[in-house]
Amino acid sequence: MTASQPTRRRLLRTAAAGAVSAAAAGLLAACTTPESEGRSVIAPATPAPSSPAATLLVYFSRPGENYWNGGRRTLEVGNTEILANLIRERLDCDVFRIEASPAYSDRYDPTVARNVDEQNADARPEIAGPLPDLSPYDRVLIGSPIWNVQPPMIMATFAEGADLAGKDLHPFVTYAVSGLGRTDSFYRDLDTGARIRDGLAVRGEGVRDNGTIAAVGQWLREGDVI
Ligand SMILES: Cc1cc2nc3c(=O)[nH]c(=O)nc-3n(C[C@H](O)[C@H](O)[C@H](O)COP(=O)(O)O)c2cc1C
Repeated sequence: MTASQPTRRRLLRTAAAGAVSAAAAGLLAACTTPESEGRSVIAPATPAPSSPAATLLVYFSRPGENYWNGGRRTLEVGNTEILANLIRERLDCDVFRIEASPAYSDRYDPTVARNVDEQNADARPEIAGPLPDLSPYDRVLIGSPIWNVQPPMIMATFAEGADLAGKDLHPFVTYAVSGLGRTDSFYRDLDTGARIRDGLAVRGEGVRDNGTIAAVGQWLREGDVI
């Protein structure tokens, strides 16, 4: 899969598992323009320039009831997905969305409890569907919420299950109060052979604000992604 056809949504094939069905929870798709997706909530300031290196954008995001400015709010689209969509609008890249099997609850408290159990057990929660073949990619942008001051354990499932050796790994997160938290050491400690680049942290309650577009652009430039 190359980054040469960024405007047409299509499913990609994994080397190991053949075609990925649209119903598969782990959905690997080419980037699309905002026009072709009909997205209008947040538009990029400028058209996306082509990226010289092949890039895969991977993210996990949980819609549903979540923490929001000290209270709770039910989100139809998760904060990290909003951020991932802003990033993909700036890049020629493929996208893989991580889905858990079983899925996390759409309620906040049970998700907190499950995450505590998974962290305490150093668990590797199952990812639904096959993982993508990373061999075509030079870099991976990897996004998640912050759960208990670090990425969810399912991000370790991905990082260890996909071959990241020799890749540049650019973490991005959304959070409520913790910023990047332990994101850098989380990925370093997994010893994947990837080069861990500087992370981007955007507060979940502010991810839909216009300022996020500038933060995304700065992070992509400073990381030599664009
Ligand atoms: C299980 C759980 C644990 C969380 N732990 C933290 C935390 O330790 N620090 C923090 O800043 N935010 C924490 N949050 C808030 C999320 O990081 C934040 O709302 C994020 O934007 C959610 O992204 P999403 O909608 O893509 O899942 C937690 C949320 C959940 C559901």
